[in-house]
Amino acid sequence: MNRSLSSAFEETNRPLVEGVRAHLAAFATNPTMHARFLNMLSLMEHIGSRKIMTCRAMRAPGLELLKHLTEESRHAFFFKRAAEAVAETALDYSPANTMAPGPAKFYMGRLDAEITGVLGDAAPELPYLYMSLIVELRATWLYRIYQDALAQAHSTLSLKGILAEEQMHLDEMLSRLHAVDPEAETHVARFCAFEDIRFRSVWSAVESECAGQRFAAE
Ligand SMILES: [Fe+2]
Ligand SMILES: [Fe+2]
Repeated sequence: MNRSLSSAFEETNRPLVEGVRAHLAAFATNPTMHARFLNMLSLMEHIGSRKIMTCRAMRAPGLELLKHLTEESRHAFFFKRAAEAVAETALDYSPANTMAPGPAKFYMGRLDAEITGVLGDAAPELPYLYMSLIVELRATWLYRIYQDALAQAHSTLSLKGILAEEQMHLDEMLSRLHAVDPEAETHVARFCAFEDIRFRSVWSAVESECAGQRFAAE
């Protein structure tokens, strides 16, 4: 299901690709906006790692769960360090230093609430697995487009390491979900449809912040 899930996700998101690619390419020419975008990714990775830290499965974590937590918090660090390198100064997660922080937080919060609400008191591991899976699907989709844009701009920043880890998490979540939830396909479809609406909302907030900005290529 992994390959078919990823290709179904790509198909649904095909209409978004060009707009997203154009903005990511433009960031390479506007350091202030680029740093704020990188800091937004850091914020989302940080929220993701905090959600893993507080999920019910974390009450008795195995090695895999602890590894996942470590990697997500390292992703938050990676993007923060990249943001500060571009900005050449320390950045907090305030709106001045972060692109669309409100919509980014809302995206993570609503997705978590939807998944937890649908699953109710299911096995403690399930909300963690679904939340991670859906976020990994979006992360691999976005980071692939971003990596291409960075390579085209001859940027020294590379997302290849993070992409490989997100892909590995995706595979792990999916195989675990198929082992523990007989309704996995139905749940994945439902949560992906919900995430799609929420992501479009975050992305339109990003576009609004970019509107009227000067980019060198323009
Ligand atoms: Fe991540
Ligand atoms: Fe991940």
